[in-house]
Amino acid sequence: MASLTLLIPTLICLQFHLLSLAFADIDISSQISTDDNDVWRSPSGHFAFGFRSLDNNTDLNKNLFMLAIWYDMIPDKTVVWSAKTDNKLATAPTGSHVRITSAGLTLAGPKGDSIWTSNLEGVIVSVGSMLDTGNFVLLNQNSEKLWQSFENPTDTLLPNQSLQLGGMLTSRLTDTNYTSGRFQLYFKDGNVLLSPLAWPSPLKYNSYYVLDASGAASTLVFNESGDIYVNTTNGTTIQPQGSQWNSSDLDPEVNYYRATLDFSGVFTQYYHPRNSAAQPGWRIMRYVPDNICNAISYQYGSGSCGYNSYCSMENHRPTCKCPYGYSLLDPSKQFGGCQPNFTLACGADVQTPPEELYEMHAAQDFNFPEGDYERIQPYSSQECQQFCLQDCMCAMVVSGGDTCWLKRFPLGNGREEPVHDLHFVYIKTRIIRDFYPDEELSPAPDSKKEYNGKLFLLGPLLGSLVLNSILIATVALFVLMKKKANRVSTAAISPLETNLHSFTYEKLEKATQNFKEEIGRGSYGLVYKGQLEAGSCHLVAVKRLDRLAQEREKEFRTELSSIGRTCHKNLVRLIGFCDEGMNRILVYEFMSNGNLADILFGQPKPKWNVRVGFALGIARGLVYLHEECDTPIIHCDIKPQNILIDEYLNPKISDFGLAKLLLSDQSRTTTMIRGTRGYVAPEWFKNVAVTVKVDVYSFGVMLLEIICSRRSVLMMEPGEEEKALLTDWACDCFMEGKTDVLVENDEEALSDYVRLQKWIKIAIWCIHEQPEMRPTMGMVMQMLEGFVEVPNPPSPFLIRSMP
Ligand SMILES: *[C@@H]1O[C@H](CO)[C@@H](O)[C@H](O)[C@H]1NC(C)=O
Ligand SMILES: *[C@@H]1O[C@H](CO)[C@@H](O)[C@H](O)[C@H]1NC(C)=O
Ligand SMILES: *[C@@H]1O[C@H](CO)[C@@H](O)[C@H](O)[C@H]1NC(C)=O
Ligand SMILES: *[C@@H]1O[C@H](CO)[C@@H](O)[C@H](O)[C@H]1NC(C)=O
Ligand SMILES: *[C@@H]1O[C@H](CO)[C@@H](O)[C@H](O)[C@H]1NC(C)=O
Ligand SMILES: *[C@@H]1O[C@H](CO)[C@@H](O)[C@H](O)[C@H]1NC(C)=O
Ligand SMILES: *[C@@H]1O[C@H](CO)[C@@H](O)[C@H](O)[C@H]1NC(C)=O
Ligand SMILES: *[C@@H]1O[C@H](CO)[C@@H](O)[C@H](O)[C@H]1NC(C)=O
Repeated sequence: MASLTLLIPTLICLQFHLLSLAFADIDISSQISTDDNDVWRSPSGHFAFGFRSLDNNTDLNKNLFMLAIWYDMIPDKTVVWSAKTDNKLATAPTGSHVRITSAGLTLAGPKGDSIWTSNLEGVIVSVGSMLDTGNFVLLNQNSEKLWQSFENPTDTLLPNQSLQLGGMLTSRLTDTNYTSGRFQLYFKDGNVLLSPLAWPSPLKYNSYYVLDASGAASTLVFNESGDIYVNTTNGTTIQPQGSQWNSSDLDPEVNYYRATLDFSGVFTQYYHPRNSAAQPGWRIMRYVPDNICNAISYQYGSGSCGYNSYCSMENHRPTCKCPYGYSLLDPSKQFGGCQPNFTLACGADVQTPPEELYEMHAAQDFNFPEGDYERIQPYSSQECQQFCLQDCMCAMVVSGGDTCWLKRFPLGNGREEPVHDLHFVYIKTRIIRDFYPDEELSPAPDSKKEYNGKLFLLGPLLGSLVLNSILIATVALFVLMKKKANRVSTAAISPLETNLHSFTYEKLEKATQNFKEEIGRGSYGLVYKGQLEAGSCHLVAVKRLDRLAQEREKEFRTELSSIGRTCHKNLVRLIGFCDEGMNRILVYEFMSNGNLADILFGQPKPKWNVRVGFALGIARGLVYLHEECDTPIIHCDIKPQNILIDEYLNPKISDFGLAKLLLSDQSRTTTMIRGTRGYVAPEWFKNVAVTVKVDVYSFGVMLLEIICSRRSVLMMEPGEEEKALLTDWACDCFMEGKTDVLVENDEEALSDYVRLQKWIKIAIWCIHEQPEMRPTMGMVMQMLEGFVEVPNPPSPFLIRSMP
């Protein structure tokens, strides 16, 4: 009997032992792989050891995994340890496996190549075990610990885990990226420090938090009850200090605890209810430093947030914000930094005064104290802003009292600051012209003139556009007044006041040797070469206007004065005129390189970067005509034949301003329009007001011609008809994602692929069927220059509805 009573407890004992073995101890040669979902769990199931997927590829064979330990009984499955080599995450492709051998743990790839090992030498492992504390251990046959995950921590400490002198924690890169990140907790000179790293290198910058043990720290202890402190060599313990490191009741029976060096650089102790019925989720218990945003202050690095963003504490967490006019580099990465919505660069737009491109935007509640490159004093706020506008290096200024701090890119260590009467931030932002302006163009800021009805030309396109003609120009005869301002006074000015010369018919007859040498047939009349003074080199292009609408005659001089006042590098300059009897003659500067059509469609083709220069120059000229003149000038006949090229390959728009002068309301017929088929905006065929958007349309067609070096309409061989209309073909190619065929074998264009793509998109926007959907020339210019992103054009396109 006695033997029986003794036997029962023995059996129970034996069974218990077997069970715990089955759960916890992992024998030599056991292995798990990424293919099965096996894990090694701790006896009570709180923790698991195994593979965790790093990405969610639909193609499972391309997934990467890491070897990790995580909380297995909570929905978050929070990772507390991962395998790293030299502080770099060990990543394993599909098909990898981890195995326990007498030499330790080894992680090997599908072909058996070693990815990671527990790095043990001269010992013999007899068993591995996932413990309920979250520690994975390798034991010898005397149950001595040969290796433990607790001694190779990543970013997290668990209760009963201590960090020995020389140990460290390295934050992960982001919430979901376990690669080593930008912050480290480590021992230095007997204290425990937190520092930013010069990521991705291991170099440490100045610390932003010190757990001061007066140089006597020996261990950072996370004891079984969940308390965290430093053990010193003389036996005392030191608690972390900080207004957010609150002492509170600890109950490891009720809660899980963990302490993590967060990817934002904050060392935080979290708790999570063990009871699955309670509200799940980790909650912040306490943390150091109090305010990471202010704590990190150093000339290098970006701080807790990325570059150009500023940091503020919200709900005990750092959050990152972009200054006005900036947006996140990657919208999914709050800590990844911000970029301006525009490009701030030196060297672009040299001829445009910075005041017209940029403005200073005031803010008050943040600062980038480490981003200064100049400190100027005494300097008023106005002078400070002006200085920044003029300095292409300047990104932002802070003005306080009589001091002006100039800041440059990239801006690091930004932080929110309390609003202060004497502290103003001014952010340099680019003035963004609306993609779709209101129906009316806004007048130049310094102009009070209204131009209601004048804006719209209800006239027809000029008829005799049959021949592509050349208007040729001249070297200016008269001393060109050096006008600095782009805009001129709006008061009515007589032609003479505008620097236009009034010629007698006789003089022009002589200059052209009785209109002998015809150099082109312009849209509005024949063009002759002339020489104003015999023997001199004052070559001019003399244009006889053949069809001046009757009712426009009295406006001739007024209109000329407005043309005469235009002055832009990309416009052909009008020198003078003759208005005698029936004769209406215009005298222009002479352009030695002919017109764009001859260059673009001739052989050899102009190089890609020359073509890029043409497009930019023409766009600039049009921006000037549309948006920078007192009264917007609609050209109405933009095409390569009307673009002249000077000796420096600058494109210059000719014949501008004449449309208005010469058009009359009655003659808008399709016969007349047919001449420039390919360039004409569809609204010409409808009875609607014609706006500057007709030029945008023509510019779009011409931009495609410039990109492709071919005419917009071509006769094609059978089988290639789809290429006949360039606009249609370009849209088709764009939608099929094969824009490269448009430039055929133009290597230079292909190697500038980003621009090529972008410009084709811009051109497609410009040739949109509906004028109001087309961007303004100002917007086109900004997109061409890359200052503004080009949205994808909407589809389907209705551009084929042309008759
Ligand atoms: C993978 O997808 C799941 C479900 O969509 C998501 O919860 C998880 O965070 C994703 N993991 C990664 C690494 O993106
Ligand atoms: C905690 O650690 C101590 C010493 O390192 C060890 O003796 C103890 O068993 C551990 N507690 C648990 C629950 O594992
Ligand atoms: C994590 O970040 C590193 C460095 O930026 C990157 O190379 C890696 O692909 C990222 N991993 C994942 C899973 O996103
Ligand atoms: C952990 O530390 C706290 C004080 O810091 C102490 O009260 C508690 O008894 C400790 N727990 C254990 C298990 O050592
Ligand atoms: C232990 O060292 C700390 C810091 O150096 C000191 O403040 C404390 O008085 C020392 N305690 C003992 C018992 O020596
Ligand atoms: C920390 O110091 C206490 C008291 O001296 C000691 O009992 C404890 O074992 C130490 N803990 C560690 C992890 O060294
Ligand atoms: C710590 O205590 C302070 C003062 O009571 C409180 O304002 C703060 O919110 C607490 N911090 C945390 C993380 O609970
Ligand atoms: C900058 O771009 C972001 C995202 O595109 C936008 O939300 C924001 O309004 C823009 N800011 C300005 C001032 O244009």
